[in-house]
Amino acid sequence: MIRDIQEEILRLKKENDVCILAHSYQAREIAEVADFVGDSYQLSVMAERAPQSTVIMCGVRFMAETVKILSPQKKVFLANPIAGCPMAEQMDKDLIGMWKQANPDYTVVAYINTTAELKTICDVCVTSSSAVKIVKNLDTDKIVFIPDCNLGAYVAEQVPEKEIKLLQGGCPIHAAVSVKDVEQAKAAHPDALLLVHPECVPAVAAKADYIGSTSGIMEFAKKSDAKQFIIGTEISIAEHLQYDCPDKEFYILSKKLICPNMKSTTLVDVLRVLRGQGGEEITMDEETRLAAKHCIDEMIRLG
Ligand code: 13P
Ligand code: SF4
Repeated sequence: MIRDIQEEILRLKKENDVCILAHSYQAREIAEVADFVGDSYQLSVMAERAPQSTVIMCGVRFMAETVKILSPQKKVFLANPIAGCPMAEQMDKDLIGMWKQANPDYTVVAYINTTAELKTICDVCVTSSSAVKIVKNLDTDKIVFIPDCNLGAYVAEQVPEKEIKLLQGGCPIHAAVSVKDVEQAKAAHPDALLLVHPECVPAVAAKADYIGSTSGIMEFAKKSDAKQFIIGTEISIAEHLQYDCPDKEFYILSKKLICPNMKSTTLVDVLRVLRGQGGEEITMDEETRLAAKHCIDEMIRLG
């Protein structure tokens, strides 16, 4: 059954000149039909390079918006319209606009997990894999980092020479993991290395052997000589790693690490988009797109 749907997807995407992009939090059966699977930074680069005229994003809304911002000539679909990122909705243009007015000498660094509308008034975007490098490369010392105060705290620790203000926001999935979860996982798997995403709270990140983006975690685990790993990010990463590295063992840090938004996309959703029966086409007025593009271009220039 799954194989039949996958074969139909592969046939239709070739016939209709469609590129399927999947974030690494997507399920295995979706990753198998994708042209490219990666973290949010890699997806934005691949979207621009993809020669196809249509892109289907299997991920969350801000990722599909990023594709549209970079490739306005392409038709871009979000495979399941309910797939949003709650963190991206936490801060809006009005709130940050007021903050900027009160603090005009600060550069606004926005995690890519923000809406296109909010990006229009930010100075530069970052992803979890590029945040430290970009903040170091900025020719300013006064920064406000939005919306994730946990990723922001990690960046502030790595770049102590700059003043980095944090606003209260973050990923509800990663932030739910506690030090107690870490202690339980380490007690159950004492020989395993702990790899965590910087969206986890600082007290959890402080216990990690490695902190990095989804692709950073996967790369570290694949290259490492260690044989056991506790994975502190969405559970799909542990599943993909176990599939790719059958000689190693991967454990999830906590059962709380399931992103319902990332998991809302199914193979049938992808098939429905290809049949013209589902998904949501992303549209954006040109003024918003160009203003939002500025901070993504800065991300690519400085990253
Ligand atoms: P990455 O930048 O590591 O892909 O993370 C995106 C995300 O939403 C993590 O929760
Ligand atoms: Fe957003 Fe968190 Fe889900 Fe990533 S894991 S998409 S940051 S809610």
